[in-house]
Amino acid sequence: MKSTTFSAITIFATLATALPAAGNLASRDHVKQVINSSAVVNINEDTPDTALGVSGTGVVSRVNNKHNSQALVKFDFPEGLGGYKCRLAFGNPVRFSGTGEIQVYTIGGANIESATFNQRPFRDQFKGTFRVAGSGEAVVVDGSGLTFDCPAKGAKAYEVVSVGDNNEVVWYAPSGGLRVDVM
Ligand SMILES: *[C@@H]1O[C@H](CO)[C@@H](O)[C@H](O)[C@H]1NC(C)=O
Repeated sequence: MKSTTFSAITIFATLATALPAAGNLASRDHVKQVINSSAVVNINEDTPDTALGVSGTGVVSRVNNKHNSQALVKFDFPEGLGGYKCRLAFGNPVRFSGTGEIQVYTIGGANIESATFNQRPFRDQFKGTFRVAGSGEAVVVDGSGLTFDCPAKGAKAYEVVSVGDNNEVVWYAPSGGLRVDVM
């Protein structure tokens, strides 16, 4: 009896290894709800005191260690997610170049609408790194902080920044870019 169970597990493990795509599909099916961003505000080092306002396009870029554009991205978490896990994910960019690597941080407030490069909620905790490699789902390079207990109803905002130089990632919000999967 015990050895039968063991060989069934072995077969399963072999199948799972042989079919990584099926495994990915299965884990995406566990997403119960997607929370799209409710506001994106780009802040730009070249116009550091100008509030660029809420935009339909997120732009993260850096050229020659300057000209930084960073995107502040807000989510309105609904009520009723207590006990669920939330996971930050990134997909469906419209354009990218360079390494395509971006990092996500929490920021110290959700009041981002009038943020400027010089005046904005402070950058807080590192959440993770993605690499945009095509028009679909970005690759998770460092997922150490991407999954967390879904918060109570309310707004939370994040910052998306470029990793390294001569790099650009652009998305149309809310249909692409940073989102939260509820699992
Ligand atoms: C979130 O964005 C996706 C991709 O565009 C879309 O299919 C989905 O309907 C959106 N969800 C909500 C709740 O707006």
